[in-house]
Amino acid sequence: MKKTILITGSTDGIGKLAALKMAKDGHIIYLHGRDSEKLNKVIAELKQGTDNDDIFGFTADFSHLNEVKRMADEINDKISTIDVLINNAGVFKSPHSLTNDGSDIRIVVNYYAPYLLTNRILGKIKEGSQPRIINLSSAAQSRISYDLLDANIQVSDQEAYAQSKLAILMWSFYLAQKESNISVVALNPGSLLNTNMVREAYGKFWSSADKGADIIYDLALIKSSEDIDGQYFDNDKGDFGLAHPDAYDMEIVNNLIAKTMEQVKVVD
Ligand SMILES: NC(=O)c1ccc[n+]([C@@H]2O[C@H](COP(=O)([O-])OP(=O)(O)OC[C@H]3O[C@@H](n4cnc5c(N)ncnc54)[C@H](OP(=O)(O)O)[C@@H]3O)[C@@H](O)[C@H]2O)c1
Repeated sequence: MKKTILITGSTDGIGKLAALKMAKDGHIIYLHGRDSEKLNKVIAELKQGTDNDDIFGFTADFSHLNEVKRMADEINDKISTIDVLINNAGVFKSPHSLTNDGSDIRIVVNYYAPYLLTNRILGKIKEGSQPRIINLSSAAQSRISYDLLDANIQVSDQEAYAQSKLAILMWSFYLAQKESNISVVALNPGSLLNTNMVREAYGKFWSSADKGADIIYDLALIKSSEDIDGQYFDNDKGDFGLAHPDAYDMEIVNNLIAKTMEQVKVVD
């Protein structure tokens, strides 16, 4: 069956490779990038490489939440239903580690932006066929500090990244419980895959980017909705696995969501 799939951060890395794989199957693919020129090049490249004309795109810099809102409004105008949302866009190192309002860029791009986007387009996902949300987490997961969420402190790139990746994972578990008709899964696509992010952060890689793209494809289209719902898939192990202990403590999860709701206004 032809699915409608939206994948953020699909102008490069594992997101682009996963989009290519899914486009080859003939699905309707909505890409996303922060740079419209790069996005248009990738749309053209994917169309040419797949003979699939149902490839479209949205532009938004996720370090500005007003752009995320604008993109969500465009999606609500243009797309009737979404079967699969893949929250893949992410940042580790950046020339500016703070956004305009002084927040850490990892917290905003990797956690607040997908939280805001998803909640604003949730109606379209609920209308999808066996809908799924795949949230890109990581093996790097650190206990979340409210001071970082409140933009009161600065921490290292690695620490900010790891906190943002535990935050998106904890929100995935929360969303899976809240939205019983949507299957929500958090994914570590594999550590040190060969992408720009990893080469810039570590100057080396351990595995091909295809390893990450393949598991995104499997979770989006092959594995059963029941199997993935509310789970963490750890692709370093090639199986579902255990996340950071905080993700299983409902008090900590609920406190994170309450804090997030204070910081990110979904409806305005
Ligand atoms: N690679 C790994 O080993 C690994 C391991 C664990 C988790 N992950 C996660 O997997 C996801 C994909 O990472 P990747 O390794 O494929 O990295 P990548 O090659 O750097 O791709 C990241 C994607 O996110 C986009 N992006 C970055 N900052 C953005 C912003 N401010 N606004 C909008 N889009 C933005 C990038 O756009 P541009 O094309 O414009 O740069 C690109 O499309 C991330 O969430 C990452 O945390 C990766």
